[in-house]
Amino acid sequence: MNLAQIRLVRRTFEYIRPPSEASDVAVAMFYERLFELDPELRPLFKTDMAVQGRKLMQTLALMIDTLENPGAIALEVQALGLRHTGYGVQEQDYDTMREALLWTVRQSLGEAYLPEVEEAWTLAYNFLADVMKAAG
Ligand code: HEM
Repeated sequence: MNLAQIRLVRRTFEYIRPPSEASDVAVAMFYERLFELDPELRPLFKTDMAVQGRKLMQTLALMIDTLENPGAIALEVQALGLRHTGYGVQEQDYDTMREALLWTVRQSLGEAYLPEVEEAWTLAYNFLADVMKAAG
């Protein structure tokens, strides 16, 4: 991932950066899409989805803010990956989540969702998911 791509992810994340109403809307759309893509994921979530969604968005914000220096939060991302194995998340679920997340970004950006935006988000997500999966 190059610096221009990191900046592109950061700039487009502004559309849904927490705390904001747009972020809450995006997260609700995201989970709806995720469970539409794979209804079997629904029972893995045991807590309040609004609270869970805020945690997800805050963590994404931290990850996106440190993309140039991922070593700074590598231990946290690994620990998060390990906890996800405990929640029953399997490797292929990360692909489903990427699809739901990119769909959400596309809905939020509208015409600003260009192919290079999709490419940059895919690279950023895959990078984080790979660290999480490797730890699990
Ligand atoms: C970049 C990818 C992901 C990020 C940043 C992320 C972030 C988070 C965060 C911050 C939590 C709160 C609990 C904790 O810190 O341990 C959480 C919980 C959870 N996540 Fe993720 N997650 C990711 C991928 C996934 C995927 C692919 C799934 C699969 C469906 C998933 C399912 C869950 C579940 C089931 C919980 C527990 C919810 C509960 O206790 O009710 N996550 N996630």
